Amino acid sequence: MSLLIKHGTIVTATDQYVGDILVEGEKITTIGSDLTMAADRVIEARGKYVFPGGIDVHTHLDMPFGGTTSADDFESGTIAAAHGGTTTVVDFAIQYRGQTLHHAMDTWMKKAEGKAAIDYGFHMIITELNDQVELEMDALVKQGLTSFKLFMAYPGVFMLDDASIFKALLRTGKNGGTICMHAENGGVIDVLVKKALAEGKTAPKYHALTRPARAEAEATHRAIALAEIADVPIYIVHLSAAEALEMVTEARDRGLPAYAETCPQYLFLSYENYEEPGFEGAKYVMSPPLRGKETQDRLWRGLAFNDLQAISTDHCPFCMKEQKTLGADDFSKIPNGAPGIETRMSLVYDGGVRTGKISLNRFVELTSTSPAKIFGLFPRKGTIAPGSDADIVIFDPEKKQRLSAKTLHMKVDYNPYEGREITGVTETVISRGKVVIDAGTFTGRAGGGAFLKRNTR
Ligand code: URP
Ligand code: ZN
Ligand code: ZN
Repeated sequence: MSLLIKHGTIVTATDQYVGDILVEGEKITTIGSDLTMAADRVIEARGKYVFPGGIDVHTHLDMPFGGTTSADDFESGTIAAAHGGTTTVVDFAIQYRGQTLHHAMDTWMKKAEGKAAIDYGFHMIITELNDQVELEMDALVKQGLTSFKLFMAYPGVFMLDDASIFKALLRTGKNGGTICMHAENGGVIDVLVKKALAEGKTAPKYHALTRPARAEAEATHRAIALAEIADVPIYIVHLSAAEALEMVTEARDRGLPAYAETCPQYLFLSYENYEEPGFEGAKYVMSPPLRGKETQDRLWRGLAFNDLQAISTDHCPFCMKEQKTLGADDFSKIPNGAPGIETRMSLVYDGGVRTGKISLNRFVELTSTSPAKIFGLFPRKGTIAPGSDADIVIFDPEKKQRLSAKTLHMKVDYNPYEGREITGVTETVISRGKVVIDAGTFTGRAGGGAFLKRNTR
């Protein structure tokens, strides 16, 4: 199967030019002007942007959490991702205490196999570290699972102590893996949550009020300090607070390999959403929580000046009906997370590029190239170049879309951006040479995606 994409405006992290792309099999083979080769299909892309497929390195599909399971599985979640211009996800497998990392990997491989419609990889969440687990870390890195998520929050469930965190960091110094950190001070938060509940404060907004920005900043600082002592890079996930960003900026200014991502919810939503009437604030219960509106500009500045290197989604959807309501009388029982896998590219294009907060090249870098580089996928993924996988998005920069749970494809009964109009819509998506979204219609198949063995640093 071959495809010829004609006259599109090809945009990478560094370039923007009008050209043609020839795809043969799963790869991009030729880029040039006025290519005349015969192809099975010619796609006219004049007036459209041609981006490398989006890479979302933070998703939670089919994830058990708080007595329920995230509403999208690998089929519905990856189809929704494709609709939104994402062709690769890196999801999180979870090692529960008493279990091996290999058991977790097998479990998550089974969840994805035959279901994922786009390519996927895994980070491994480690909740218990011992000598055996350290050996397993090495083995997983050799198998292409090259990053690990650790938690400084959720005591008794996911949280690791500093000694375990430090040991895991040291291990990645030997095996070339990368530690991703959920940086919030879980001990402090636990005390504040118990105090709030004892005072009868049960509404969703207390989720945010018991997770102060300084608790995120403290943990971010500690995580970076531990990585500095271990002499390894660190990647802070879902950074939301300006105070935490200051810690990353300070470290980077000192030349440390500290990296961080933020997510669209922290760029477009704010604490005010928790004040919505009734139980509506539960829609936005996620950790870390949404911050004050003034934080948004600080995050955009961090993205523009490379203090933040990636925009991922932390897609972790729970329906309002029957899932978020688990915490109807107690905010601490509301499952943490929100949907976003489908809306990332359009939201960031509309709210970032069109407003002049970031350039078009930086948009591609933040949503595709830089995550590919940090997580061992580049240059196979994350760019448009001969030899790279033909993961390509044809994007109409003028088309408008009104975001709504009814018309989006995520399997969740609300959308945090309900009614928001965005300009800039994914039209056609190619995943390893196959058209999976054709003028807005899904034409791929569940199981069409493959597990990605990622490289070490
Ligand atoms: O609230 C969130 N972020 N839920 C998903 C789990 C995590 O910590 O990423
Ligand atoms: Zn997290
Ligand atoms: Zn997450």
